[in-house]
Amino acid sequence: MNIDTKKIIADMITIEGESAQSIYDALGVPPDESMGDFALPCFPYAKKLRKSPVKIAEELQQALQSKLRPPVAKVQAVNGYLNFYVDRLYYAKDLLKSILALKSDYGNSDMGEGKTICIDYSSINIAKPFHIGHLCTTVIGGALYKVYKKLGYRVVGINHLGDWGTQFGKLIVAYKMWGNGKSLEEKGVSYLNSLYVKFHKEAEKDSSLDDKARFYFKKIEDGDKEALELFNLFKEITLKEVDKIYKRLNIEFDSYNGEAFYNDKMEPVLNELKEKNLLVESDGAKIVDLSEYGMPPCLLVKADGATLYATRDLAAAYYRKKTYDFYKCLYVVAYQQNLHFKQIFKVLELLGKDWGVYHIPFGMVSLEDGAMSTRKGKVVLLEDVLNKAVEKAHAIITEKNPDLEDKEKIAEQVGVGAVIFSTLYNNRIKDIVFSYDKVLSFEGETGPYVQYTNARCNSVLAKIGDQAVLNGDGGDYQGINNKEGLRVIALLEKFSQTLMETAERYEPCYISRYLVELSQAFNRFYYEHRIIDAEEGVKKARAELVAAVHIVLEEGLRLLGISAPKQM
Ligand code: ARG
Repeated sequence: MNIDTKKIIADMITIEGESAQSIYDALGVPPDESMGDFALPCFPYAKKLRKSPVKIAEELQQALQSKLRPPVAKVQAVNGYLNFYVDRLYYAKDLLKSILALKSDYGNSDMGEGKTICIDYSSINIAKPFHIGHLCTTVIGGALYKVYKKLGYRVVGINHLGDWGTQFGKLIVAYKMWGNGKSLEEKGVSYLNSLYVKFHKEAEKDSSLDDKARFYFKKIEDGDKEALELFNLFKEITLKEVDKIYKRLNIEFDSYNGEAFYNDKMEPVLNELKEKNLLVESDGAKIVDLSEYGMPPCLLVKADGATLYATRDLAAAYYRKKTYDFYKCLYVVAYQQNLHFKQIFKVLELLGKDWGVYHIPFGMVSLEDGAMSTRKGKVVLLEDVLNKAVEKAHAIITEKNPDLEDKEKIAEQVGVGAVIFSTLYNNRIKDIVFSYDKVLSFEGETGPYVQYTNARCNSVLAKIGDQAVLNGDGGDYQGINNKEGLRVIALLEKFSQTLMETAERYEPCYISRYLVELSQAFNRFYYEHRIIDAEEGVKKARAELVAAVHIVLEEGLRLLGISAPKQM
């Protein structure tokens, strides 16, 4: 409970020579509910007060009779213990009332007011297929994005595109030699990828191709019209394709400034490093020596003058700080890049930039059949995974509910939702082995289970008729004063705290786990207690509980980027 009942009780009790804090600390929870919700053992005071614990408890009970106030309903002295009984419905009514009034705004906060959080996520590579390796960063970042917004922060979602590097020179050469616009139009990124593979094969036989590639990359750098046009075309094609996936995953960005964007923004960082004597020459290259910190050097300019991924990340940090004045900048990137970020952050620290930059690492996703090893060329495309999940969801729904309307749409919501939910169900850092059957099960700890519970709430409410009466006022709340009902209430109240923890620890799994818990608790209530055909007052109170669960489940799913079908 948000309100500290224990404190209210401690403040009521006066014992000579004891502070409210020591009484607070002494208050415990009895092992058995029949002995009350809180109990104060009076034995420790016997010696000082020179009275038996039984007598102390009885006297305290006497003195407290006139002081009791809600939610404390009753106090009883039993064998040297002072037992307190709390009116558990006291808060329940208020809670329901506020959820029903706030609706999806329930859980909103202004804790982030005036603070900006940049989240660098998804950050795909141009002309490369969107494979499941980019799934985690996309959905973890997307969930954090929504959660921080709900908590009142200004959030800037950044897709730090991988759109720079010699590979674009290669791609231009390959396209000019073997490509054509029609195939590119039709096949998109997979076509670009096959041109890229072909380039590598051919370059093994003909090394002049590599020179040509360097020549074209230089042309991009110099802003040559033809080279830039092709490069931009590749970029456009890639973005158009991934945008379809982002839509399916409910993902949005405020900026697509990627590596290329920082091409003309690296000078200030390099200059500052030079001024502060942090930039060291090493075999013609420019590095920041990090040996003192047990790390390899951070390479920033190669001997041939080329800059690197790290150089652009430093420039990006400068730019973001200047543009957004962020309070935190989060980089949601796989743990394989741990060292990269440790280096970048160390360099920023050496520059005296105490900026609140955080690497949010996560593990790998692989499929049950062992696919995913890029080395064998077996890349698993995210689109294929989503499509297969939707197809399977369609089959399950058709079997369970053959007459369901709008089956295509619901299968899309369930299939995609299942993939997202399973990706967000474990602590980030764990590797995930993905199984279609497991993530699509309607009974396990899955997205479909939560969606199904939510649809169940919806169907109960549809039978209630006029839902305007569900306002947390005037029902018979004894109808929810039972183990199952109170458990649901306790969980509903935990929603805000869950959001805070998610934000604090950068762990969307707190939300997904919470949603499963709430669904399980609700389903227990649903099986144990009649709702629709209960007596009017009880029916109203129970329906309010259902409506509140419905609001919180839907909002929780939304935060994870998952749609909530009304029926399944
Ligand atoms: N494009 C990179 C990759 O796919 C991720 C970029 C992450 N963001 C960053 N600022 N370095 O590995």
